Amino acid sequence: MIQDAIVHIKTIDELINWIYFHFDQSDIYFGHGSDNAWDETVFLVLQTLNLPYDLPQEMLDSRVKQEDKALALARAEKRINDRIPLPYLTNKAYFCGSEYYVDERVLIPRSPIAELIENRFAPWIDGDSVNNILDLCTGSGCIAIACAQYFEQANVMGSDISAECIEIAKQNAKNLQVNNVNFLISDLFDKLPDTQYDIIVSNPPYVNQHDFDTAPDEFSLEPAAALLSGQDGLDITRQILKEASKFLSNNGILVVEVGNSADALEQAFPNVPFVWLEFERGGDGVFVLTRDELLSYF
Ligand SMILES: C[S@@+](CC[C@H](N)C(=O)[O-])C[C@H]1O[C@@H](n2cnc3c(N)ncnc32)[C@H](O)[C@@H]1O
Repeated sequence: MIQDAIVHIKTIDELINWIYFHFDQSDIYFGHGSDNAWDETVFLVLQTLNLPYDLPQEMLDSRVKQEDKALALARAEKRINDRIPLPYLTNKAYFCGSEYYVDERVLIPRSPIAELIENRFAPWIDGDSVNNILDLCTGSGCIAIACAQYFEQANVMGSDISAECIEIAKQNAKNLQVNNVNFLISDLFDKLPDTQYDIIVSNPPYVNQHDFDTAPDEFSLEPAAALLSGQDGLDITRQILKEASKFLSNNGILVVEVGNSADALEQAFPNVPFVWLEFERGGDGVFVLTRDELLSYF
């Protein structure tokens, strides 16, 4: 039992090494913020102790308080036994350098679209000409809020079919003191105001039935409605492709993540000139189309 060591562990360093030993031997899946047992352990301990990631090495020999130690060990045990992703245990996730509150009502932020936002969608649009941005399927609000942070002059709208997501997204915007973003409950474009957006960006549900059925346990704790999108993973994306042009300004662009369903999308629409983006920090399956292309093909 991982908690058996509670009386022997005195320092942060000992706590990290003990949890790492157990994570490394377990069959937990890393896919929600880290990709290895060491990083996952360090994130768990530092987040639980409310310590910064650039903690000086000598601080690792500091004594750890009894209640912090107990909480870290209890979280580590849940991570292994119940396969709960770490961000749901600490209620913290990171996106474009900001901290987000997350729980099991929202998908854990991890979209490679973060990198695109940090580059202000260059070279696909002139960032200074952007006035209105729409984030469809906003979940925790991370894409909408990051867009609002990187396009201070723009108005950003984030929408989601889930009232619980919108509640959390609003709270995240408030916590981060971001004011140029609004949120709306809407089934895709249904309830949106009659606005022409310069950028429509979306990380919609795009997991196909087979991948959904065979995913590691960690993913079963995320809302199914945030992942699954029909047999081939493209139900929602098809609707976005059909309707997006009506909501785009003349030079507007549509950016959508479809992840592993990229091949299925290419097969479904072989004539459409999808541009697939490359990311320095990893990730793929994100395409860009212009309004003119959408008008021509959908
Ligand atoms: C993959 S999650 C993305 C969340 C967030 N954008 C992110 O990147 O972390 C997809 C989101 O789409 C929402 N969703 C599912 N069907 C929808 C629909 N028909 N209209 C609007 N949102 C929908 C889900 O509630 C979920 O929050």
